[in-house]
Amino acid sequence: MSLDTRAGVPQGVPVTAGPVLRPATPADLAHLAVLLHDAWHDAHRDHLPPALLAARGPAYVEGWVRELLPGTVVAERAGALLGLVAVRDDEVHQLMVAAPARGTGVADTLLAAAEDRIAAAGHATAWLTVLAPNDRARRFYARRGWLDRGPEQVAAVVPGSAPALLAVHRYEKSLGRG
Ligand SMILES: CC(C)(COP(=O)(O)OP(=O)(O)OC[C@H]1O[C@@H](n2cnc3c(N)ncnc32)[C@H](O)[C@@H]1OP(=O)(O)O)[C@@H](O)C(=O)NCCC(=O)NCCS
Repeated sequence: MSLDTRAGVPQGVPVTAGPVLRPATPADLAHLAVLLHDAWHDAHRDHLPPALLAARGPAYVEGWVRELLPGTVVAERAGALLGLVAVRDDEVHQLMVAAPARGTGVADTLLAAAEDRIAAAGHATAWLTVLAPNDRARRFYARRGWLDRGPEQVAAVVPGSAPALLAVHRYEKSLGRG
């Protein structure tokens, strides 16, 4: 079985077999960094300033994944990582699915796991921010029952220059358990 090393998705493995969800481990770091880097750039490359895109290179993303690791759950199939969701307190901080696994339900499974984790920590509501022009993600969150709470601006750090102000939307979901 040849391995598409960049995304770690083994070719020939049917995308229909349900993914296994598990906590991320340090052994996943390199693969998660590639997955997060590629999915983040897929979603943002047409909407963010070049300096910010350039600042979110593999080295930066590896540090990002290391920081998020304790709150990260991965979706795995046949030993390959198909997606990740990273939770921080009541926030879904990152949800990233590898391109071949989009539209397969992996995202739904990961987001449901994040909602459960946030509820289990005693929070009544979960929140996230999404770049305003990221239609696919916004449609996905709406379909999963997340409510658009409107536009906000967030500042993204760009080394060597002023922070980039990004137009995002805040989404919230009542977990109805807290
Ligand atoms: C966002 C993401 C997690 C959604 O998961 P997914 O498996 O792609 O979800 P779906 O296939 O259900 O697609 C969501 C919606 O986008 C629509 N869609 C599919 N392809 C699309 C495309 N190329 N452009 C825009 N919308 C698209 C789908 O029809 C669906 O809409 P609907 O439910 O109204 O029919 C996944 O696409 C992803 O990881 N993208 C890259 C990183 C990213 O954007 N992460 C989220 C950051 S906040």
